[in-house]
Amino acid sequence: MPSETNTPKLVSKEGKLIDLKEAVTFRRNFAIISHPDAGKTTLTEKLLLYGGAIQQAGAVKARGEQRKVTSDWMELEKQRGISITSTVLQFVYNKITINLLDTPGHQDFSEDTYRTLAAADNAVMLEDAAKGLEPQTRKLFEVCRLRNIPIFTFINKMDRPGQEPLSLLDEIEAELDLATYAVNWPIGSGDLFRGVIERHSREVVLFSRAVRGKQSKERRLKLNDPALNKLVEKDLLDKALEELELLEAAGSDLDIELIRAGEITPVFFGSATTNFGVKSFLDSFLEMAQGPVARNASDGPVDPMRETFTGFVFKLQANMDPRHRDRVAFVRVCSGRFEKDMTVSHARTGKNIRLSRPQKIFAQDRAVVEDAYPGDVIGLNNPGMFSIGDTLYAGKRVEYEGIPCFSPEIFCWLRNPNPSAFKNFRKGVNELREEGAVQILYDNDQSKRDPILAAVGQLQLEVVQHRLENEYSVETRLEPLGYQVARWVDGGWPSLEKVGRIFNCKIVQDSWQRPVLLFKNLWNLNQLEQDHPSLSLSSVAPVVSGVNPITL
Ligand code: G4P
Repeated sequence: MPSETNTPKLVSKEGKLIDLKEAVTFRRNFAIISHPDAGKTTLTEKLLLYGGAIQQAGAVKARGEQRKVTSDWMELEKQRGISITSTVLQFVYNKITINLLDTPGHQDFSEDTYRTLAAADNAVMLEDAAKGLEPQTRKLFEVCRLRNIPIFTFINKMDRPGQEPLSLLDEIEAELDLATYAVNWPIGSGDLFRGVIERHSREVVLFSRAVRGKQSKERRLKLNDPALNKLVEKDLLDKALEELELLEAAGSDLDIELIRAGEITPVFFGSATTNFGVKSFLDSFLEMAQGPVARNASDGPVDPMRETFTGFVFKLQANMDPRHRDRVAFVRVCSGRFEKDMTVSHARTGKNIRLSRPQKIFAQDRAVVEDAYPGDVIGLNNPGMFSIGDTLYAGKRVEYEGIPCFSPEIFCWLRNPNPSAFKNFRKGVNELREEGAVQILYDNDQSKRDPILAAVGQLQLEVVQHRLENEYSVETRLEPLGYQVARWVDGGWPSLEKVGRIFNCKIVQDSWQRPVLLFKNLWNLNQLEQDHPSLSLSSVAPVVSGVNPITL
């Protein structure tokens, strides 16, 4: 086992010298947060084109075709035309290895997105210029804020009529309490969109409407170039310059430290379909984004330059390919070098595991990885031993802070009408909970042992039922409980016992036997908080580490 020093030089199995520092320095990872339809798929596709990861625009969507051979429940994805699963896309651009953690667009799957954000070092907030901030973006932003991760804003669809750019910035500042720095400034919008003024170069990048599907050509002129007057209407240019002056006088400065602390968001205007502004966005992003950061563990932060490998599981996915009935655990590498076939320790159980078939997942495709570095994500075959939040490490013991569960809003009894199918029912429920497809709560009354499904969105429940039927051959019935709000009790059962009897809520327990209060509405919650000011409630489940959950 390598010694625990700070020297960044490692030796691979083949005797090759590996510079960990270089691997870390040339790595960036990010997730895109957006509301459905803002253009995430389109932007992702354009970014991948720059990395040469795909050869033609449209390839990301065209993958739908390949899904014919993937799992049954992805069938549901196809039927609904939505993206449920998150995948990881890795590509190299300008010598930098970029990991794009893709997240499901549908709001019913935001839990999955929350967990993916736990593995991201940076986030790109994508807005539709006509719609501004939308509910899903706001929600996901809050999750980023919990970890203060740097946010880069791309305001998309400038080729369509949009809101005033200044109001878009005001909205971010006022509603998200996040300062903005416009890296470029649009000249007109919609039919009158003429391009952007790049602030650092004082150049105008002209927009030309390309044929659909083709990339528009980039033409640059200095702001003082007389030719500009012939190409851009004077009133549009004057307006843009006036607005820029305003920003320069009253706006924030470009402060890289504040950007990395998540306190200022650099804002870029562009248009993903026409590929306008995407390359300059990527270039600036790579300059400003933070590399793999130190992660908090029980004994303090772990530097990515720690020589030995550490990582944590942030997502589990079963049956990505029904031909193999596989289960994949997605691990974010946090420190050191991960190498195929290495033996690591599993912090929760203390077991040693040989990681013999690590995979790199690109959308639905897989390849075996030989090695991986901080900021990368690897897929491990998971024969039921991993749970979300689990730490894997080599060398000295490390246990990362787990990943919090977010407050569900829909609660249903899950009934199994066929007692002879109980074994499959139990297996399915336990595995889907482990995977984080849904949260499972239990009634305090031991005689009512049917599980309670707790979800963020209705569609999440549909997927659970669909998968139980298709993957575990059990038909189930859902019975709504009629509650909409869940709160965890700080201090657990002792704190709850201290306040005595409480009304207008149902007390249940989560899979870690911690009390959860369910309320019919926020009014009832507020009432309880007023009646019992000493009771401290939380909408985010406390992080669990080192404890095994109860199973059905
Ligand atoms: P999502 O993944 O965030 O849900 O969004 P997606 O990229 O699928 O884009 C949603 C719609 O917005 C698509 O149109 C897409 O073409 C369009 N769009 C994305 N970026 C831009 C842009 O910069 N300008 C304009 N004008 N439109 C943009 P669609 O009609 O739903 O699909 P499609 O037929 O174009 O594929």
